[in-house]
Amino acid sequence: MDRALFSPFTLRGMTTRNRIWVPPMCQYSSESRDGMPAAWHLVHLGSLAKGGVGAIILEATAVVPEGRISPEDLGLWNDAQRDALAPIVSFLHDQGAAAGIQLAHAGRKASTYRAWGETRRGSVPLAEGGWPTVAPSAVAFEGLETPRELDVDGIQAVVAAFAAAARRAVDAGFDMVEIHAAHGYLLHEFLSPLSNRRTDAYGGSLENRARIVLEAVEAVRAEIGPDVALLVRFSATDWTPGGWTPQETEQVVRWAAERGADMIDVSTGGNVATATIPAGPGYQVPFAAAIRAATGMPTAAVGMIDQAYQAEQVLITGQADVVLVGREMMRDPHFALRAARQLGVELDYGPGPYARAFA
Ligand SMILES: Cc1cc2nc3c(=O)[nH]c(=O)nc-3n(C[C@H](O)[C@H](O)[C@H](O)COP(=O)(O)O)c2cc1C
Repeated sequence: MDRALFSPFTLRGMTTRNRIWVPPMCQYSSESRDGMPAAWHLVHLGSLAKGGVGAIILEATAVVPEGRISPEDLGLWNDAQRDALAPIVSFLHDQGAAAGIQLAHAGRKASTYRAWGETRRGSVPLAEGGWPTVAPSAVAFEGLETPRELDVDGIQAVVAAFAAAARRAVDAGFDMVEIHAAHGYLLHEFLSPLSNRRTDAYGGSLENRARIVLEAVEAVRAEIGPDVALLVRFSATDWTPGGWTPQETEQVVRWAAERGADMIDVSTGGNVATATIPAGPGYQVPFAAAIRAATGMPTAAVGMIDQAYQAEQVLITGQADVVLVGREMMRDPHFALRAARQLGVELDYGPGPYARAFA
């Protein structure tokens, strides 16, 4: 049976075998604390690839050391990291999955304890391997250290670091690059008036607050060439009065499209610790649908999409072009193979050595 979820999707030079993708999910598992991937990354990502997904977007990967959320984050600020990621990308390709990577700078939410195996929360002290953070303005995220305001040279250095990391991503074999402009990290901090109090060319008007994002899009596009797809992940709302809004997101999406972005990964929240978020099945899908309708840009929907028919519904109602399945993928790395069975789709792929289990 034909199903939208199992139809191929083409973006630039990449065609994914279906429309179930894995969103970026930090593993906080670079135990060497130098941004290098570990055996865990190959096993974790490899298991998702053999589970039949169309594409996997690797976790938030820092473009500079001080851009890591935690000391255990991945990085792509040097060539050794590029060379260590290349065999992982190659394995994902061998298993039939396309590979993307989310390039990130955590801004004022950097230098925090990792989210597992650690009871402490908040900023890691300098004595324990933490570092001073930077942001558009010296405004702290609740519970974290106050960041230093970036000057214009600092902003330009961040843009250049995104471009350099994107170059390394292409050289490592990635099919797509995603710029992380969501979840209250550095680029989102510039977008939102709640975290951006600047009065120079990078603050104030929407155009000014969006400037660093658009410069990053343009710089990354110039590095990755015509075949590699460029996604941007936005939080479509701060869920807070006076904060970032869906309407502003739509305008910035139009500007990003003009500068070479191909697709928008639509999430929400993350910039305000106290925001009330009405989480529930598919709760962020309407934001992806609105952006797709208003701008004509392809969208990826994400957030509590964990059922095959639910995912199919998102696509056939024209709300998004692909669905991203996160936590359910960790619960069941074979989610895509299971979804195919549930939807009555016969696949001609799946891990060869497991053929007898899926016949
Ligand atoms: C363990 C974990 C790590 C995450 N890391 C990232 C990340 O690196 N970058 C990002 O944009 N979102 C990250 N997220 C958010 C996911 O990409 C996704 O948007 C979210 O989990 C909602 O989708 P789901 O309900 O299918 O899990 C993470 C989520 C989880 C559970």
